[in-house]
Amino acid sequence: MQSRDPGRPSGWGAYYAHHRERPISSLLGAALERLSPQVNWRQAIDLGCGSGNETRALLAAGWDVVAIDQELAAIEMVSAIRADFPGVCLETRAQQFESLAILPAASLIHAGMSIPFCHPQHFEKFWAQVRAALLPGGLFVGQLFGNRDDWAGDPSRTFHSESQARGLLQGLDLIRFEAHEYDGPSLRGTKHWHRFEVIAQRPAPHA
Ligand SMILES: C[S@@+](CC[C@H](N)C(=O)[O-])C[C@H]1O[C@@H](n2cnc3c(N)ncnc32)[C@H](O)[C@@H]1O
Repeated sequence: MQSRDPGRPSGWGAYYAHHRERPISSLLGAALERLSPQVNWRQAIDLGCGSGNETRALLAAGWDVVAIDQELAAIEMVSAIRADFPGVCLETRAQQFESLAILPAASLIHAGMSIPFCHPQHFEKFWAQVRAALLPGGLFVGQLFGNRDDWAGDPSRTFHSESQARGLLQGLDLIRFEAHEYDGPSLRGTKHWHRFEVIAQRPAPHA
């Protein structure tokens, strides 16, 4: 695998500019509504945080956040959010999923349209780290890319069939698992989208 220099410009800038002002992901909104009353220890991880819309929403909801992205531009934007939330705990890490050493234990792990960008050679180890970091009762919230997506021919990204995606989530309670497949816009024009929208909960010991 070709490892990317986290500081090298990559084309994500246009994505950040486009998404910076959008409302937070409805998937994360639904997860927060469900989880917030249940947990006292509000530690979240935002994997591939991008421009930080969801990191900001988590901080606003009283969560401590570790925000991770390979792009320095993203980390700079997210670090700047700190000024709006004095006293909250926000840790930022400019890191690639492929070389993550350790993730902190968390009650909520959000991965908005991000973890399929992990190289397939590293995905299994990375996913094991994500699962290991999820505390009992905690939620994983995010998207996986399906194998019928137009981008599925890209060998540097990770795609799953529905049964493979469900396999990754085995042992977690599926609060939401939706396959979305349609032709629709992307920043590079219309494409065929195929992805799985997931909210999955690690069972608590007493459950
Ligand atoms: C499609 S954007 C999503 C950003 C944000 N979560 C959102 O929903 O707006 C994907 C993000 O994942 C980051 N990313 C892609 N590949 C990565 C990798 N291998 N390691 C770490 N971050 C990566 C990109 O830099 C980008 O910020």
